[in-house]
Amino acid sequence: MFDPAPAHSRGLFVTATDTEVGKTFVAGAILAALTARGENAAPFKPVVTGIDEPVPDHPADHELLAAAAGAADPERVTPYRFGPAVSPHLAAEEHGTPIDPGVLVVAARNAGAQADALIVEGVGGLLVPLRDTYLVRDFAVMLGLPLVIAARPGLGTINHTLLTIEAARSVGLQVCAVVMTPWPEHPTAMQRSNLETIEHLGEVEVATLGRAEHTTPAALARVGQALPLDRWLA
Ligand SMILES: Nc1ncnc2c1ncn2[C@@H]1O[C@H](COP(=O)(O)OP(=O)(O)OP(=O)(O)O)[C@@H](O)[C@H]1O
Ligand SMILES: [Mg+2]
Repeated sequence: MFDPAPAHSRGLFVTATDTEVGKTFVAGAILAALTARGENAAPFKPVVTGIDEPVPDHPADHELLAAAAGAADPERVTPYRFGPAVSPHLAAEEHGTPIDPGVLVVAARNAGAQADALIVEGVGGLLVPLRDTYLVRDFAVMLGLPLVIAARPGLGTINHTLLTIEAARSVGLQVCAVVMTPWPEHPTAMQRSNLETIEHLGEVEVATLGRAEHTTPAALARVGQALPLDRWLA
């Protein structure tokens, strides 16, 4: 039986409007900023796919998140790792290892057990299936953490972000903030207008994350420290 208690009393669930938007950069920046100021923040990612197709100079998500949090063991960050870069439900099916929601929740609790805060990176967007009809959104509901939504600054982001906010709130998920990433040093009038429009129509806080020059903890902490983490994690 599922125990509805939150996975951690302090934490954030980082989702995005789409795949390849910036969830790992946002979660990594949050972890690195917390770690740099002496907090013990633990990363978690339910499923990592595509480990057979590494991108040069770009660590896999669980490796980047572990490094951002200091000493965390990458193996502890995620219970499921699959080779092909396809949707998690398909990767799991092809591997013959269906994703078990109970395993995910226990692994998330264990990952955060010794930590002051649990920072979870989702997979793709909220309506990505993990298994059959069990979606990333269902996993977020099980964890009970407030959402941070990574969003692109450019054209198309208003619709994608408002859809994501609606999908979250329709099942009672709390949206803590939207983070536009990577936010340029000199945003265009359209990018600034996108931010204000999402704030207004989504009735939501919109923060920005600057471009990290590297995926090193120091580079991530540098951009992450500008986020209002104390308030978000209060
Ligand atoms: N703050 C940032 N600094 C630098 N690059 C960024 C930033 N935000 C997003 N990017 C760019 O967006 C790309 C995708 O980012 P990221 O890997 O974090 O996305 P994701 O949502 O985690 O993707 P996936 O769905 O595969 O997990 C990066 O490779 C990088 O080019
Ligand atoms: Mg990622």
